[in-house]
Amino acid sequence: MTLLFVNTSQLVTCAGPARARRGPEMNEAGVIPNGAVAVEGDRIVAVGRQAELEGRFPAAERVDCALGVLAPGLVDSHTHGIFGKARFEEQELRAAGVGYMEIARRGGGIHSSVKDLRARTEDDLYLLALPRLQRLAAHGVTTVEIKSGYGLTLDDELKSLRVIQRLQTALPMRIVPTFLGAHEIPLEFRAAPRTREEYVALLEHEMIPQVAAQRLAVFADIFCEPGVYTLDETRRILGAARRHGLLLKLHADELEPSGAAELAAELGATSADHLAAISDTGIKALAASDTVATLLPGTMLFLGRPRQAPARDLIAAGAAVALASDFNPGTSPTVNFPLMLTLAVSQLRMSVAEAFVAATANGAAALGLAAETGQLSPGFSADLALFDIGDLRELPYWYGDHRCTRSWVRGKACHG
Ligand code: NIG
Ligand code: FE
Repeated sequence: MTLLFVNTSQLVTCAGPARARRGPEMNEAGVIPNGAVAVEGDRIVAVGRQAELEGRFPAAERVDCALGVLAPGLVDSHTHGIFGKARFEEQELRAAGVGYMEIARRGGGIHSSVKDLRARTEDDLYLLALPRLQRLAAHGVTTVEIKSGYGLTLDDELKSLRVIQRLQTALPMRIVPTFLGAHEIPLEFRAAPRTREEYVALLEHEMIPQVAAQRLAVFADIFCEPGVYTLDETRRILGAARRHGLLLKLHADELEPSGAAELAAELGATSADHLAAISDTGIKALAASDTVATLLPGTMLFLGRPRQAPARDLIAAGAAVALASDFNPGTSPTVNFPLMLTLAVSQLRMSVAEAFVAATANGAAALGLAAETGQLSPGFSADLALFDIGDLRELPYWYGDHRCTRSWVRGKACHG
């Protein structure tokens, strides 16, 4: 049976090559006024003007889009969706002048989420994550990456990754799991008798091999930042991850420039994320590589940091930019993915087309899925989101609003 999505005000296709869009390519969102999409099973079979598709598929079942904007489902390529308690007390501490790293040094920040997660059961974490991710889906996200990283012991990391595995079965969204055992140096490895070297060795020789053997992650990620993991440690840990068949991601140059973006390019990482403090050489390195520059403007907003990532410089240099929510309890407790589009336009000075491509096709590329999702073209997965607006530019404009009315993944209802 064919499904025909009709009666749109605009169809946004993001159609183009099945790879990350870079530089000026990012300005092509592919808007078709009153466009329609034909879907058979889990695949898109045709995209075009409604009259033409109605002629080609006369027997199709119609899905009325109520004059909304129909677009590729949004791809959120960076979240820390497995956590327990909220951390609202840190927001006030920062307002009073205590920095993010200082809060971590006092045992708060990531450490407080680690202490909390270790005390929780797998079932408890699953029941907390489920509605949070359903709310993310309600905003139009059809593919989401979820990291572990608040366990920092073999058992607690495996527990977190098993929660992600259960969510993959329970939720219609496409979920990509990432192992982030290198999110912090756990407190128990910071003082004698144990050393940080022992934790790095544990990551290399036990945690990564186990995670890979149990096929619980596609990516390995690391917080490569002064005060957290050094460049040398990052090389060792990601080297081990690669040897075990994991693809690579880095939290890079988030707060201070340290050469992390350059290292991401050198290692052939799929993405380098954050980049608010990237240097000029880092920009050049990413532009000359296939590593996607994933920007997380919600994080800089929530932390109250003065500087957003240099999106314009990255795009001008020819890099591929993606946008993601960084959904996590410490630095970006939001599931409102369209709000990232607002920040991209108003703070990163991206065009609406650039922001939308960054949130779809380039998000997919940041997950190694550029040939599967992120665009509406024949052969791609039928991952669609419908928004109650008449023009794509309204999506970043009505900021903080909730305009997604329905979404589909692999041709099946995801939200609404
Ligand atoms: O992406 N920067 C490191 N990790 C997260 C924050 C984690 C936390 O504070 O709990 C981030 O911002
Ligand atoms: Fe993050």
